[in-house]
Amino acid sequence: MGESLFERAAARIPGGVNSPVRAFGAVGGEPFFVARAHGARLVDTEDRSYLDYVQSWGASILGHAHPVVVDAVQRAAADGTSYGAPTAREVELAEAICARVPSVEKVRLVSSGTEAAMTALRLARGATGRAKFVKFAGCYHGHADALLAQAGSGVATLGLPGSAGVTPGTVADTIIVPYNDFAALDDALAVHGADVAAIIVEPIAANMGLVPPAPGFVEGLRARCTQHGALLVLDEVITGFRVGPGGAQVLAGVTPDLSIFGKVVGGGLPLAAVGGRAAVMDELAPLGPVYQAGTLSGNPLATAAGLAVLGELRPESYDALERSAERLASGLRGAFADAGVPVQVTRAFTLVGLFFAAEPVGDYEAARRADHGRYARLFHGLLDRDVFFAPSGYETLFPSLAHTDADLDATIDAVAECARELG
Ligand SMILES: Cc1ncc(COP(=O)(O)O)c(C=O)c1O
Repeated sequence: MGESLFERAAARIPGGVNSPVRAFGAVGGEPFFVARAHGARLVDTEDRSYLDYVQSWGASILGHAHPVVVDAVQRAAADGTSYGAPTAREVELAEAICARVPSVEKVRLVSSGTEAAMTALRLARGATGRAKFVKFAGCYHGHADALLAQAGSGVATLGLPGSAGVTPGTVADTIIVPYNDFAALDDALAVHGADVAAIIVEPIAANMGLVPPAPGFVEGLRARCTQHGALLVLDEVITGFRVGPGGAQVLAGVTPDLSIFGKVVGGGLPLAAVGGRAAVMDELAPLGPVYQAGTLSGNPLATAAGLAVLGELRPESYDALERSAERLASGLRGAFADAGVPVQVTRAFTLVGLFFAAEPVGDYEAARRADHGRYARLFHGLLDRDVFFAPSGYETLFPSLAHTDADLDATIDAVAECARELG
């Protein structure tokens, strides 16, 4: 037999993957390689099909290869894949974002969530003339140096406190506070409040598993930012256009100064955005002194995909997605209860999370105390049954609009079988 694709990958790509969580390090085993995907399903290079709850980490809200999106991208590609000069679709996508998210008066398109978070941070520092910022343990905002301290997602999966190569100086202005903990936040603000440029937060934390905010948490952050003259930056890379048309901020009734978006807004292509109050956004070059740029920013294929996806999403789409999320969440709860396995199934609107823990999970410490070995066993039990959950217990489940009730029920049946093996 020849070398496997994973062996070839591992020889030429560090760890065999281009983003760490894909390597299955947290759950063991070797990753499969995707050949194609349609709707709720992925097909691997061995022609095996899986019900997919990763969905490009939430980007594919319509399911994979939605015909409207494929058509839009194909037509865009036929007209050229990148110009380095403005296009009408960039304007249309900016208008579409502003129309859905009232706090966003102006928007800059970039290519990844990491870049959006990095830009938002620089902008907040430039606009306030302050250096420090507050982030919450377990929230992931991409892999820019200053934001990597106590991040969730792959950093949590690998058990790294941050990353090698991040110098103490780079994170010296990063203040880390536990999620959902006003007492700790107020202590930090009492000392550093006058130097804090921004509080950045996932309004629904989805990178330490799914941890919804405690009632009043996001509202309380808004009040504290206003009180201390800091900007509130909501990271809606996962929640934007996914939990509702206006994202988590509209559902919480909170107006941030800046927001960042990714995933759904790019329709599965490399596109993300930073947006907010015009007065703050106008600090960006070429109008203002805060530099930011990108060869592929506002890429014509990505804007075509983003516009196609946003155009397909109606208020009813979110109702349908929420019904699917609740069907999945209650099915998971029932399956584990029947097997006598203690579990916390979290749901926030259209998102679902799963912790093997006896007590509710409200922050990163609690998420880390969950039984991740048990999650790994569930993951493999499901994979054996052709169901692909995230290959780490620090992630979120993403039912898409392509998942039918039959798909969800088949998933719940598979989970019930695995739960009996775990119990
Ligand atoms: C909340 C959040 N912010 C930022 C990012 C970084 O986005 P990207 O992977 O596109 O750089 C992610 C990625 O998963 C995310 O979930």
